[in-house]
Amino acid sequence: MPRKNEATLTYQDKKIILPVEQGTEGETAVNISQLRSKTGLITLDPGYGNTGSTKSDITFIDGEKGILRYRGYDIADLSNNCSFIEVTYLLIFGELPSAEELAAFTTTVTRHTMINEDYKKYYDVWPRTAHPMALLAAGMAGMSSFYDDIASDFKEHAVDISTIRCLAKVPTLAAYAYKKSIGQPFVYPRNELNYCQNFLNMMFSVPAEEYEVIPEVEEALNKLLILHADHEQNCSTSTVRMVGSSGANIYASIATGILALWGPLHGGANQAVLEMLTSIQKEKISLKEFVNRVKRQEIKLMGFGHRVYRNHDPRCAIIKKACDKLLLKLKVKDPLLDIAKELEHIALNDSYFIDRKLYPNVDFYSGIIYKAMNIPTNMFTVIFSIGRLPGWIAQWREMRTQGIKINRPRQIYTGSTKREFKRVKG
Ligand code: ACO
Repeated sequence: MPRKNEATLTYQDKKIILPVEQGTEGETAVNISQLRSKTGLITLDPGYGNTGSTKSDITFIDGEKGILRYRGYDIADLSNNCSFIEVTYLLIFGELPSAEELAAFTTTVTRHTMINEDYKKYYDVWPRTAHPMALLAAGMAGMSSFYDDIASDFKEHAVDISTIRCLAKVPTLAAYAYKKSIGQPFVYPRNELNYCQNFLNMMFSVPAEEYEVIPEVEEALNKLLILHADHEQNCSTSTVRMVGSSGANIYASIATGILALWGPLHGGANQAVLEMLTSIQKEKISLKEFVNRVKRQEIKLMGFGHRVYRNHDPRCAIIKKACDKLLLKLKVKDPLLDIAKELEHIALNDSYFIDRKLYPNVDFYSGIIYKAMNIPTNMFTVIFSIGRLPGWIAQWREMRTQGIKINRPRQIYTGSTKREFKRVKG
Protein backbone atom coordinates (compact mmCIF):
# COMPACT_ATOMS: atom_id res chain seq x y z
CA MET A 1 0.00 0.00 0.00
CA PRO A 2 1.73 3.26 -1.09
CA ARG A 3 2.06 5.98 1.52
CA LYS A 4 0.46 9.41 1.09
CA ASN A 5 3.67 10.95 -0.22
CA GLU A 6 4.46 8.14 -2.62
CA ALA A 7 3.15 6.94 -5.97
CA THR A 8 3.59 3.45 -7.36
CA LEU A 9 4.36 2.76 -10.98
CA THR A 10 4.16 -0.71 -12.41
CA TYR A 11 5.72 -1.43 -15.77
CA GLN A 12 6.12 -4.97 -17.10
CA ASP A 13 7.66 -6.87 -14.20
CA LYS A 14 8.99 -3.76 -12.47
CA LYS A 15 7.26 -1.88 -9.71
CA ILE A 16 8.77 1.29 -8.35
CA ILE A 17 7.83 3.75 -5.68
CA LEU A 18 8.12 7.39 -6.70
CA PRO A 19 8.17 10.21 -4.14
CA VAL A 20 5.30 12.70 -4.26
CA GLU A 21 6.32 16.25 -3.40
CA GLN A 22 4.11 19.07 -2.27
CA GLY A 23 4.39 22.83 -2.59
CA THR A 24 3.32 25.39 0.02
CA GLU A 25 -0.05 25.89 -1.71
CA GLY A 26 -0.77 22.17 -1.88
CA GLU A 27 0.34 21.53 -5.48
CA THR A 28 1.57 17.96 -5.75
CA ALA A 29 4.05 16.38 -8.11
CA VAL A 30 5.43 12.92 -8.69
CA ASN A 31 9.19 13.20 -8.64
CA ILE A 32 10.38 11.09 -11.56
CA SER A 33 14.07 11.99 -11.43
CA GLN A 34 14.96 8.32 -10.71
CA LEU A 35 12.51 6.91 -13.27
CA ARG A 36 14.92 6.23 -16.13
CA SER A 37 17.72 4.81 -14.01
CA LYS A 38 15.29 2.43 -12.28
CA THR A 39 13.03 1.40 -15.17
CA GLY A 40 14.58 2.57 -18.46
CA LEU A 41 11.46 4.65 -19.04
CA ILE A 42 11.27 8.35 -19.73
CA THR A 43 8.12 10.49 -19.71
CA LEU A 44 6.63 12.01 -22.85
CA ASP A 45 4.78 15.29 -22.40
CA PRO A 46 4.76 17.44 -25.56
CA GLY A 47 4.13 21.07 -24.63
CA TYR A 48 5.05 20.25 -21.00
CA GLY A 49 1.43 20.58 -19.81
CA ASN A 50 2.09 18.07 -17.02
CA THR A 51 5.72 18.73 -16.36
CA GLY A 52 7.09 20.74 -13.47
CA SER A 53 10.54 21.86 -14.52
CA THR A 54 11.55 23.38 -11.20
CA LYS A 55 10.56 24.30 -7.67
CA SER A 56 10.22 28.03 -7.24
CA ASP A 57 9.52 30.51 -4.43
CA ILE A 58 8.62 33.40 -6.74
CA THR A 59 5.13 33.24 -8.27
CA PHE A 60 2.03 31.22 -7.50
CA ILE A 61 -0.80 30.68 -9.99
CA ASP A 62 -4.01 28.77 -9.41
CA GLY A 63 -5.41 28.53 -12.92
CA GLU A 64 -8.71 27.00 -11.80
CA LYS A 65 -9.43 29.77 -9.30
CA GLY A 66 -7.85 32.62 -11.29
CA ILE A 67 -5.25 33.46 -8.62
CA LEU A 68 -1.90 35.12 -9.30
CA ARG A 69 0.50 36.05 -6.49
CA TYR A 70 4.07 37.33 -6.49
CA ARG A 71 5.96 36.15 -3.39
CA GLY A 72 2.59 35.57 -1.70
CA TYR A 73 1.06 38.98 -2.50
CA ASP A 74 -2.09 39.14 -4.62
CA ILE A 75 -1.66 40.75 -8.04
CA ALA A 76 -4.58 43.14 -7.44
CA ASP A 77 -3.02 44.45 -4.21
CA LEU A 78 0.35 44.93 -5.85
CA SER A 79 -0.99 46.61 -8.98
CA ASN A 80 -3.19 48.96 -6.92
CA ASN A 81 -0.62 49.95 -4.32
CA CYS A 82 2.91 49.64 -5.66
CA SER A 83 5.32 51.15 -8.11
CA PHE A 84 6.84 48.84 -10.70
CA ILE A 85 10.27 49.30 -9.16
CA GLU A 86 8.90 48.18 -5.76
CA VAL A 87 7.43 45.04 -7.33
CA THR A 88 10.73 44.50 -9.15
CA TYR A 89 12.53 44.56 -5.79
CA LEU A 90 9.96 42.15 -4.35
CA LEU A 91 10.33 39.65 -7.17
CA ILE A 92 14.11 39.74 -7.21
CA PHE A 93 14.90 39.93 -3.48
CA GLY A 94 11.82 38.18 -2.07
CA GLU A 95 10.46 40.92 0.21
CA LEU A 96 8.85 44.32 -0.28
CA PRO A 97 11.47 47.02 0.32
CA SER A 98 11.47 49.44 3.25
CA ALA A 99 11.41 53.14 2.31
CA GLU A 100 15.22 53.32 2.61
CA GLU A 101 15.77 50.12 0.63
CA LEU A 102 13.46 51.35 -2.09
CA ALA A 103 15.18 54.74 -2.27
CA ALA A 104 18.62 53.12 -2.50
CA PHE A 105 17.48 50.61 -5.13
CA THR A 106 15.74 53.29 -7.20
CA THR A 107 18.82 55.52 -7.12
CA THR A 108 21.09 52.68 -8.20
CA VAL A 109 18.83 51.70 -11.10
CA THR A 110 18.44 55.34 -12.15
CA ARG A 111 22.22 55.86 -12.21
CA HIS A 112 22.71 53.03 -14.73
CA THR A 113 20.16 53.99 -17.37
CA MET A 114 22.60 55.43 -19.91
CA ILE A 115 24.07 53.11 -22.49
CA ASN A 116 27.59 53.31 -23.87
CA GLU A 117 27.82 56.01 -26.56
CA ASP A 118 29.45 53.52 -28.97
CA TYR A 119 26.30 51.47 -28.74
CA LYS A 120 24.31 54.02 -30.71
CA LYS A 121 26.19 52.96 -33.86
CA TYR A 122 24.63 49.55 -33.51
CA TYR A 123 21.28 51.04 -34.48
CA ASP A 124 22.72 52.43 -37.75
CA VAL A 125 23.05 49.06 -39.44
CA TRP A 126 19.44 48.01 -39.01
CA PRO A 127 16.73 48.87 -41.54
CA ARG A 128 14.26 51.41 -40.22
CA THR A 129 11.52 48.82 -40.70
CA ALA A 130 13.23 46.34 -38.37
CA HIS A 131 10.90 44.99 -35.72
CA PRO A 132 11.94 46.56 -32.39
CA MET A 133 11.81 43.12 -30.74
CA ALA A 134 14.70 42.05 -33.01
CA LEU A 135 16.66 45.16 -32.03
CA LEU A 136 15.91 44.68 -28.35
CA ALA A 137 16.92 41.02 -28.28
CA ALA A 138 20.11 41.59 -30.26
CA GLY A 139 20.84 44.69 -28.18
CA MET A 140 20.40 42.75 -24.98
CA ALA A 141 22.74 39.96 -26.05
CA GLY A 142 25.26 42.54 -27.27
CA MET A 143 25.10 44.37 -23.96
CA SER A 144 27.12 41.58 -22.32
CA SER A 145 30.10 42.47 -24.50
CA PHE A 146 30.26 45.93 -22.91
CA TYR A 147 30.54 44.34 -19.48
CA ASP A 148 32.76 41.44 -20.41
CA ASP A 149 34.67 41.54 -17.13
CA ILE A 150 31.60 40.98 -14.99
CA ALA A 151 28.85 39.55 -17.21
CA SER A 152 30.05 35.98 -16.78
CA ASP A 153 31.07 36.35 -13.15
CA PHE A 154 28.42 34.54 -11.14
CA LYS A 155 29.46 35.72 -7.66
CA GLU A 156 26.64 37.49 -5.79
CA HIS A 157 28.07 41.00 -6.11
CA ALA A 158 28.65 40.63 -9.87
CA VAL A 159 25.15 39.21 -10.40
CA ASP A 160 23.71 42.18 -8.46
CA ILE A 161 25.53 44.64 -10.74
CA SER A 162 24.35 42.80 -13.88
CA THR A 163 20.81 42.77 -12.47
CA ILE A 164 20.86 46.55 -12.05
CA ARG A 165 22.32 47.06 -15.52
CA CYS A 166 19.62 44.95 -17.15
CA LEU A 167 16.80 46.72 -15.31
CA ALA A 168 18.22 50.15 -16.00
CA LYS A 169 19.25 49.79 -19.61
CA VAL A 170 16.45 47.79 -21.20
CA PRO A 171 14.01 50.77 -21.29
CA THR A 172 16.74 52.87 -22.90
CA LEU A 173 17.42 50.18 -25.52
CA ALA A 174 13.67 49.86 -26.12
CA ALA A 175 13.10 53.59 -26.56
CA TYR A 176 16.12 53.86 -28.88
CA ALA A 177 14.64 51.07 -31.01
CA TYR A 178 11.45 53.11 -31.35
CA LYS A 179 13.28 56.37 -32.13
CA LYS A 180 15.28 54.53 -34.79
CA SER A 181 12.08 53.26 -36.41
CA ILE A 182 10.66 56.78 -36.77
CA GLY A 183 13.93 58.53 -37.58
CA GLN A 184 13.96 60.79 -34.53
CA PRO A 185 17.06 61.53 -32.43
CA PHE A 186 17.68 59.33 -29.43
CA VAL A 187 16.63 60.88 -26.14
CA TYR A 188 18.91 60.36 -23.15
CA PRO A 189 17.51 59.13 -19.83
CA ARG A 190 16.78 61.77 -17.19
CA ASN A 191 17.57 61.04 -13.58
CA GLU A 192 14.90 63.26 -12.01
CA LEU A 193 12.18 61.06 -13.57
CA ASN A 194 10.95 57.78 -12.17
CA TYR A 195 11.17 54.49 -14.11
CA CYS A 196 7.90 54.87 -16.04
CA GLN A 197 8.21 58.62 -16.58
CA ASN A 198 11.74 58.19 -17.87
CA PHE A 199 10.68 55.54 -20.38
CA LEU A 200 7.77 57.66 -21.64
CA ASN A 201 10.07 60.67 -21.93
CA MET A 202 12.66 58.70 -23.93
CA MET A 203 9.87 57.45 -26.21
CA PHE A 204 7.99 60.66 -26.83
CA SER A 205 10.09 63.74 -26.15
CA VAL A 206 11.99 65.48 -28.95
CA PRO A 207 14.73 68.09 -28.67
CA ALA A 208 12.49 70.66 -30.42
CA GLU A 209 9.92 71.02 -27.64
CA GLU A 210 9.08 70.24 -24.05
CA TYR A 211 7.28 67.00 -23.28
CA GLU A 212 5.21 66.48 -20.20
CA VAL A 213 4.35 63.01 -18.98
CA ILE A 214 0.58 62.68 -18.48
CA PRO A 215 0.11 61.27 -14.95
CA GLU A 216 -2.75 58.96 -16.01
CA VAL A 217 -0.57 57.48 -18.77
CA GLU A 218 2.25 56.94 -16.30
CA GLU A 219 -0.19 55.31 -13.88
CA ALA A 220 -1.52 52.96 -16.57
CA LEU A 221 2.01 52.03 -17.69
CA ASN A 222 3.04 51.33 -14.08
CA LYS A 223 0.05 49.01 -13.67
CA LEU A 224 0.67 47.21 -16.95
CA LEU A 225 4.32 46.60 -16.13
CA ILE A 226 3.39 45.16 -12.71
CA LEU A 227 0.77 42.87 -14.25
CA HIS A 228 3.36 41.53 -16.68
CA ALA A 229 6.22 41.26 -14.18
CA ASP A 230 6.24 37.48 -13.71
CA HIS A 231 4.17 34.45 -14.58
CA GLU A 232 6.16 31.47 -13.30
CA GLN A 233 7.37 28.90 -15.85
CA ASN A 234 5.82 30.32 -19.06
CA CYS A 235 7.49 29.90 -22.45
CA SER A 236 9.90 32.86 -22.26
CA THR A 237 10.81 32.31 -18.60
CA SER A 238 11.45 28.63 -19.21
CA THR A 239 13.65 29.71 -22.11
CA VAL A 240 15.61 32.06 -19.86
CA ARG A 241 16.12 29.24 -17.34
CA MET A 242 16.95 26.74 -20.09
CA VAL A 243 19.61 28.97 -21.63
CA GLY A 244 20.88 30.05 -18.22
CA SER A 245 21.26 26.39 -17.23
CA SER A 246 24.07 26.08 -19.77
CA GLY A 247 26.02 28.70 -17.84
CA ALA A 248 25.15 31.51 -20.27
CA ASN A 249 25.31 34.99 -18.75
CA ILE A 250 22.22 36.93 -17.70
CA TYR A 251 22.20 39.21 -20.77
CA ALA A 252 22.36 36.27 -23.18
CA SER A 253 19.71 34.36 -21.23
CA ILE A 254 17.31 37.29 -21.16
CA ALA A 255 17.89 38.01 -24.85
CA THR A 256 16.48 34.56 -25.60
CA GLY A 257 13.53 35.25 -23.28
CA ILE A 258 12.76 38.36 -25.34
CA LEU A 259 12.81 36.27 -28.52
CA ALA A 260 10.51 33.62 -27.03
CA LEU A 261 8.11 36.33 -25.88
CA TRP A 262 7.92 37.73 -29.41
CA GLY A 263 5.82 34.80 -30.69
CA PRO A 264 2.11 35.50 -31.26
CA LEU A 265 1.02 32.62 -29.01
CA HIS A 266 2.92 34.25 -26.15
CA GLY A 267 3.70 37.97 -25.63
CA GLY A 268 3.29 38.79 -29.31
CA ALA A 269 -0.44 38.20 -28.81
CA ASN A 270 -0.95 41.85 -27.78
CA GLN A 271 0.16 43.01 -31.24
CA ALA A 272 -1.86 40.21 -32.85
CA VAL A 273 -5.01 41.22 -30.94
CA LEU A 274 -4.83 44.81 -32.12
CA GLU A 275 -4.19 43.69 -35.69
CA MET A 276 -7.17 41.32 -35.43
CA LEU A 277 -9.50 44.03 -34.10
CA THR A 278 -8.27 46.50 -36.74
CA SER A 279 -8.89 44.02 -39.55
CA ILE A 280 -12.40 43.29 -38.24
CA GLN A 281 -13.06 47.03 -38.25
CA LYS A 282 -11.51 47.70 -41.68
CA GLU A 283 -13.02 44.73 -43.48
CA LYS A 284 -16.36 45.28 -41.72
CA ILE A 285 -16.61 41.57 -40.87
CA SER A 286 -19.63 40.83 -38.68
CA LEU A 287 -18.58 39.58 -35.26
CA LYS A 288 -20.88 36.60 -35.63
CA GLU A 289 -19.10 35.59 -38.84
CA PHE A 290 -15.70 36.20 -37.23
CA VAL A 291 -16.57 34.00 -34.26
CA ASN A 292 -17.87 31.33 -36.64
CA ARG A 293 -14.49 31.31 -38.38
CA VAL A 294 -12.83 30.88 -34.99
CA LYS A 295 -15.19 28.02 -34.17
CA ARG A 296 -14.41 26.34 -37.51
CA GLN A 297 -10.78 26.67 -36.32
CA GLU A 298 -9.75 28.62 -39.42
CA ILE A 299 -8.34 31.35 -37.17
CA LYS A 300 -7.73 31.90 -33.47
CA LEU A 301 -9.38 34.49 -31.30
CA MET A 302 -6.15 36.17 -30.26
CA GLY A 303 -5.98 37.25 -26.62
CA PHE A 304 -8.18 34.31 -25.62
CA GLY A 305 -7.16 31.08 -23.95
CA HIS A 306 -4.34 30.21 -21.61
CA ARG A 307 -2.42 27.06 -20.79
CA VAL A 308 -2.77 27.60 -17.05
CA TYR A 309 -5.90 29.73 -16.55
CA ARG A 310 -8.97 27.59 -17.07
CA ASN A 311 -11.07 30.23 -15.36
CA HIS A 312 -10.57 33.99 -15.71
CA ASP A 313 -7.09 35.50 -16.03
CA PRO A 314 -6.97 37.90 -13.03
CA ARG A 315 -4.76 40.31 -14.98
CA CYS A 316 -7.39 40.74 -17.69
CA ALA A 317 -10.06 42.21 -15.39
CA ILE A 318 -7.56 44.70 -13.95
CA ILE A 319 -6.42 45.76 -17.42
CA LYS A 320 -10.00 46.09 -18.69
CA LYS A 321 -10.81 48.44 -15.80
CA ALA A 322 -7.61 50.43 -16.33
CA CYS A 323 -8.43 50.62 -20.03
CA ASP A 324 -11.88 52.12 -19.39
CA LYS A 325 -10.38 54.59 -16.91
CA LEU A 326 -7.58 55.77 -19.19
CA LEU A 327 -9.74 56.15 -22.28
CA LEU A 328 -12.26 58.17 -20.27
CA LYS A 329 -9.54 60.39 -18.82
CA LEU A 330 -7.90 60.98 -22.21
CA LYS A 331 -11.33 61.42 -23.80
CA VAL A 332 -10.45 58.74 -26.35
CA LYS A 333 -13.34 56.97 -28.00
CA ASP A 334 -11.83 53.89 -29.60
CA PRO A 335 -14.22 51.72 -31.63
CA LEU A 336 -11.73 48.85 -31.22
CA LEU A 337 -12.61 48.77 -27.51
CA ASP A 338 -16.28 48.35 -28.41
CA ILE A 339 -15.41 45.54 -30.82
CA ALA A 340 -13.25 43.85 -28.17
CA LYS A 341 -16.00 44.05 -25.52
CA GLU A 342 -18.60 42.71 -27.91
CA LEU A 343 -16.30 39.86 -28.99
CA GLU A 344 -15.64 39.00 -25.35
CA HIS A 345 -19.38 38.97 -24.65
CA ILE A 346 -20.14 36.71 -27.63
CA ALA A 347 -17.31 34.33 -26.79
CA LEU A 348 -18.12 34.05 -23.10
CA ASN A 349 -21.67 33.00 -23.99
CA ASP A 350 -20.76 30.50 -26.69
CA SER A 351 -20.37 26.81 -25.94
CA TYR A 352 -17.19 26.55 -28.10
CA PHE A 353 -15.37 28.82 -25.64
CA ILE A 354 -17.26 27.68 -22.53
CA ASP A 355 -16.54 24.00 -23.16
CA ARG A 356 -12.86 24.65 -23.80
CA LYS A 357 -12.58 27.03 -20.82
CA LEU A 358 -11.31 29.87 -23.00
CA TYR A 359 -11.31 33.29 -21.34
CA PRO A 360 -9.70 36.59 -22.31
CA ASN A 361 -6.06 36.70 -21.22
CA VAL A 362 -3.69 39.52 -20.28
CA ASP A 363 -3.22 40.51 -23.93
CA PHE A 364 -6.86 40.97 -24.91
CA TYR A 365 -7.21 44.57 -23.68
CA SER A 366 -3.59 45.65 -23.18
CA GLY A 367 -3.13 46.68 -26.81
CA ILE A 368 -6.05 49.10 -26.62
CA ILE A 369 -4.45 50.87 -23.64
CA TYR A 370 -1.08 51.01 -25.43
CA LYS A 371 -2.80 52.49 -28.47
CA ALA A 372 -4.45 55.17 -26.31
CA MET A 373 -0.98 55.96 -24.95
CA ASN A 374 0.22 56.53 -28.56
CA ILE A 375 2.44 53.49 -28.44
CA PRO A 376 2.74 51.95 -31.90
CA THR A 377 1.60 48.36 -32.37
CA ASN A 378 5.06 46.91 -32.97
CA MET A 379 6.21 48.28 -29.59
CA PHE A 380 3.54 46.45 -27.57
CA THR A 381 5.62 43.32 -27.02
CA VAL A 382 8.67 45.46 -26.28
CA ILE A 383 6.77 46.99 -23.37
CA PHE A 384 5.72 43.53 -22.26
CA SER A 385 9.46 42.68 -22.24
CA ILE A 386 10.23 45.63 -19.97
CA GLY A 387 7.46 44.42 -17.68
CA ARG A 388 8.63 40.79 -17.68
CA LEU A 389 12.26 41.73 -17.03
CA PRO A 390 12.16 41.46 -13.20
CA GLY A 391 10.53 38.04 -13.51
CA TRP A 392 13.17 36.77 -15.92
CA ILE A 393 15.92 38.15 -13.69
CA ALA A 394 14.40 36.70 -10.50
CA GLN A 395 13.93 33.28 -12.13
CA TRP A 396 17.45 33.29 -13.60
CA ARG A 397 18.91 34.19 -10.21
CA GLU A 398 16.82 31.54 -8.45
CA MET A 399 17.93 28.94 -10.99
CA ARG A 400 21.57 29.74 -10.20
CA THR A 401 21.07 29.41 -6.44
CA GLN A 402 19.35 26.05 -6.94
CA GLY A 403 22.60 24.63 -8.30
CA ILE A 404 22.91 24.46 -12.03
CA LYS A 405 21.94 21.25 -13.75
CA ILE A 406 21.93 21.71 -17.48
CA ASN A 407 18.37 21.42 -18.82
CA ARG A 408 18.36 18.62 -21.32
CA PRO A 409 15.06 16.90 -22.13
CA ARG A 410 15.06 13.53 -23.83
CA GLN A 411 12.98 12.34 -26.77
CA ILE A 412 11.34 9.30 -28.31
CA TYR A 413 13.10 8.76 -31.61
CA THR A 414 10.65 8.02 -34.45
CA GLY A 415 12.95 8.20 -37.49
CA SER A 416 14.45 5.49 -39.66
CA THR A 417 16.20 2.60 -37.95
CA LYS A 418 19.80 1.77 -38.94
CA ARG A 419 20.19 1.45 -42.70
CA GLU A 420 22.99 0.76 -45.09
CA PHE A 421 24.73 3.73 -46.71
CA LYS A 422 24.09 3.88 -50.48
CA ARG A 423 24.84 6.96 -52.60
CA VAL A 424 21.73 8.29 -54.37
CA LYS A 425 22.15 7.73 -58.12
CA GLY A 426 21.57 10.43 -60.76
N1 ACO B 1 -9.15 30.73 -30.27
C1 ACO B 1 -9.83 29.64 -30.69
N2 ACO B 1 -9.65 28.40 -30.21
C2 ACO B 1 -8.75 28.26 -29.22
C3 ACO B 1 -8.02 29.36 -28.72
C4 ACO B 1 -8.26 30.62 -29.28
N3 ACO B 1 -7.58 31.70 -28.84
N4 ACO B 1 -7.18 28.92 -27.75
C5 ACO B 1 -7.39 27.61 -27.66
N5 ACO B 1 -8.33 27.20 -28.54
C6 ACO B 1 -8.88 25.85 -28.72
C7 ACO B 1 -7.87 24.94 -29.39
O1 ACO B 1 -8.02 24.98 -30.80
C8 ACO B 1 -8.23 23.61 -28.79
O2 ACO B 1 -9.41 23.17 -29.42
P1 ACO B 1 -9.64 21.58 -29.68
O3 ACO B 1 -9.65 20.95 -28.34
O4 ACO B 1 -10.92 21.52 -30.42
O5 ACO B 1 -8.47 21.12 -30.51
C9 ACO B 1 -8.60 23.94 -27.36
O6 ACO B 1 -9.07 25.30 -27.41
C10 ACO B 1 -7.48 23.82 -26.38
O7 ACO B 1 -6.45 24.72 -26.77
P2 ACO B 1 -4.92 24.39 -26.79
O8 ACO B 1 -4.29 24.99 -27.99
O9 ACO B 1 -4.70 22.92 -26.55
O10 ACO B 1 -4.45 25.15 -25.49
P3 ACO B 1 -2.97 25.45 -25.11
O11 ACO B 1 -2.92 25.46 -23.65
O12 ACO B 1 -2.02 24.53 -25.81
O13 ACO B 1 -2.69 26.90 -25.72
C11 ACO B 1 -2.67 29.24 -25.95
C12 ACO B 1 -2.76 28.08 -24.97
C13 ACO B 1 -1.37 29.10 -26.79
C14 ACO B 1 -2.54 30.53 -25.14
C15 ACO B 1 -3.89 29.26 -26.86
O14 ACO B 1 -5.05 29.44 -26.07
C16 ACO B 1 -3.83 30.34 -27.92
O15 ACO B 1 -3.23 30.12 -28.97
N6 ACO B 1 -4.41 31.55 -27.66
C17 ACO B 1 -4.33 32.65 -28.60
C18 ACO B 1 -2.98 33.35 -28.49
C19 ACO B 1 -2.86 34.14 -27.21
O16 ACO B 1 -3.73 34.94 -26.86
N7 ACO B 1 -1.71 33.98 -26.54
C20 ACO B 1 -1.38 34.74 -25.32
C21 ACO B 1 -1.40 33.87 -24.11
S1 ACO B 1 -1.00 34.81 -22.67
C22 ACO B 1 0.67 35.00 -22.75
O17 ACO B 1 1.39 34.17 -23.18
C23 ACO B 1 1.23 36.27 -22.32
